[in-house]
Amino acid sequence: MKVLGIETSCDETAVAVVEDGREVRSNLISSQAHLHERFGGVVPEVASRAHLEAINPLVEMALAEAGIAFAGLDAVAVTVGPGLVGALLVGIAAAKAVLSDPSDGSLDEPYVAFLVSGGHTMLVHVLEPFRYEVLGQTLDDAAGEAFDKVARFLGLGFPGGPALDALAQAGDPAAVRFPRAVTERGYDFSLSGLKTAVVRRVKAERASGHQTPLEDLAASFQEAVVEVQVDKTMAAARDRGVRTVVLGGGVVANTRLRALMTERADAEGIRLAIPPPDLCTDNGAMIACAGFHRLAAGERTSLDVRANPGLRL
Ligand code: KG4
Repeated sequence: MKVLGIETSCDETAVAVVEDGREVRSNLISSQAHLHERFGGVVPEVASRAHLEAINPLVEMALAEAGIAFAGLDAVAVTVGPGLVGALLVGIAAAKAVLSDPSDGSLDEPYVAFLVSGGHTMLVHVLEPFRYEVLGQTLDDAAGEAFDKVARFLGLGFPGGPALDALAQAGDPAAVRFPRAVTERGYDFSLSGLKTAVVRRVKAERASGHQTPLEDLAASFQEAVVEVQVDKTMAAARDRGVRTVVLGGGVVANTRLRALMTERADAEGIRLAIPPPDLCTDNGAMIACAGFHRLAAGERTSLDVRANPGLRL
């Protein structure tokens, strides 16, 4: 079963063809990061226009690379939310041009999913297909947002997460002991205190003349974020008696998060599913896979579907 996946929720136009929910036949991304860079963030109108320009050629290229024609597709999956409404509409309009049919698929529950992106930091207990228990989430900034804000403050550009990650590789994560957030509800996250601590420290250092090397600041900040994430994810798996942990979202491209999570999962005998970095950030393949499983479970979306910018799990 071949599913075309279309993802235009934010600033990446992404299209993929995935066969039987796992074989990625093509997976293309047209990034708009360069268009938003000078604004220091994603400008919705600019994003919508860029999606419009990119979507049709990208669909054609994804089909060509997968070696199939429109008629060879069994289904189309598209992000209807959450995201920027104008951006979502472009993908939905493109998806409505193509039609779908059902098949079979299976998921490997129960597991704990840690979803960590520019918009989310969320721990979810996935009990069975499409039955989720949200264990905790961010009380303020999403992790990717915090990475981007701190990176911008340090002058690393946009999107700052990957730049901060790269810089941190040359730094000492123990150089500065930044605060680890303690939240009242065990599985919630908070990053505003940490963010403020970085800003305060850098400002104070600039005034005093002594400056911690940028790579040490990056590594220390990253360590403070990742340590809490790994602790909470592992605690959630333990508490729920779950042996599988699944990671998803753009921040999972972070090398330190991948390394520490792998180390801890190995030590605790937990099976860890981490997508390759290009399947962690926004992409069409994840939408095609999700579409495959929902279709297999008998779900249908009618042609009058609307964009839902605030869609919840
Ligand atoms: O899932 P995603 O592609 O889409 C949104 O949620 O927007 O996640 C993008 C986020 C951005 O904030 C980006 O800075 C962050 O993921 N990100 C990273 C890394 N790669 C992407 N953060 C830390 N380290 C990385 N290597």
